[in-house]
Amino acid sequence: MALILGIESSCDETAAALVTSERAILAQHIASQDDAHRPYGGVVPEIAARAHAERLAPLIAATLADAGLTLNDVDAIAATAGPGLIGGVMVGLVTGKALAMATGKPLIAVNHLEGHALSPRLADPALRFPYALLLVSGGHCQILRVDGVGQYRRMATTIDDALGEAFDKTAKILGLGYPGGPRVEKLAREGDAKAVPLPRPLIGSAEPHFSFAGLKSAVLRAKDSGHYRDADIAASFQQAAIDCVIDRLKRALATMDGVTALVVAGGVAANQAMRHALEHLAAAHDLPFIAPPLQLCTDNAAMIAWAGVERHAQGQSDPLDFVARPRWPL
Ligand code: KG4
Ligand code: ZN
Repeated sequence: MALILGIESSCDETAAALVTSERAILAQHIASQDDAHRPYGGVVPEIAARAHAERLAPLIAATLADAGLTLNDVDAIAATAGPGLIGGVMVGLVTGKALAMATGKPLIAVNHLEGHALSPRLADPALRFPYALLLVSGGHCQILRVDGVGQYRRMATTIDDALGEAFDKTAKILGLGYPGGPRVEKLAREGDAKAVPLPRPLIGSAEPHFSFAGLKSAVLRAKDSGHYRDADIAASFQQAAIDCVIDRLKRALATMDGVTALVVAGGVAANQAMRHALEHLAAAHDLPFIAPPLQLCTDNAAMIAWAGVERHAQGQSDPLDFVARPRWPL
């Protein structure tokens, strides 16, 4: 059995976790920075980097203490090395390197997207490669074919905003505050999804890519017109976003032979209406639908530790001069 310490700091959650190759999360801590960024309506990179630097070391110590372990018990240290806000990524990666150097344990520099892509396998031992993955978060909006550890084919990406970003911008337009996704979903429950005519960008187009900038502008126009209830705008926006995702996924699935499941990951996977729509789509394709537990869908360190477990099992590690990457496509 291998034990991996995972470190995550690429956006606005500072997190550490201890995960075993037998899928046990022995301990984990996540410190959200929502309060620090709320006054600005979004993540401020400088504030994020500073908060990571202040919180990460005590958070790792608390995680080890919770499990009753020390760094000597760990087999490798897995730290997010990108993509993300570079200041935060550097804090986590440098911390991982320092711990690796001090203990002589191997460093595994994890691509944050690989963490999301493999996290369903931490939750579900039965999930086999290859699977289709919808990755929808504040920073990412992709459809991936996951063929194995390190084997990812990007089938679709967004040409402008990520889906979570569109939820966050809609929340801002409606004055709901930050983070916006859960608040839009809550308000949408009281609204009529057919009340506001909104575009479905790229629906029907041959390439399965996403675009949400036009939808966001239409939400702004609907709000400014003063003709609609906020709840109706929220519900109509959410429905338009779901329609786009389902159409694009249908297009991508048509080209993905042999996949064993439809899997969703990323913060937007918390959206219940989205989950229902995905469940129907999977059933129509005779595929099991797999949505990891919510705390594994949003940013966390257990998924980074798990990517470390998978790569450690293949004998992989990275040099201590590995450079943090703000951009790092899978
Ligand atoms: O994966 P995540 O925690 O961080 C990133 O890597 O971005 O995703 C956060 C994103 C935010 O944009 C947030 O608004 C969105 O996920 N989100 C939701 C919901 N919960 C979180 N979007 C729609 N409905 C939700 N219930
Ligand atoms: Zn993420």
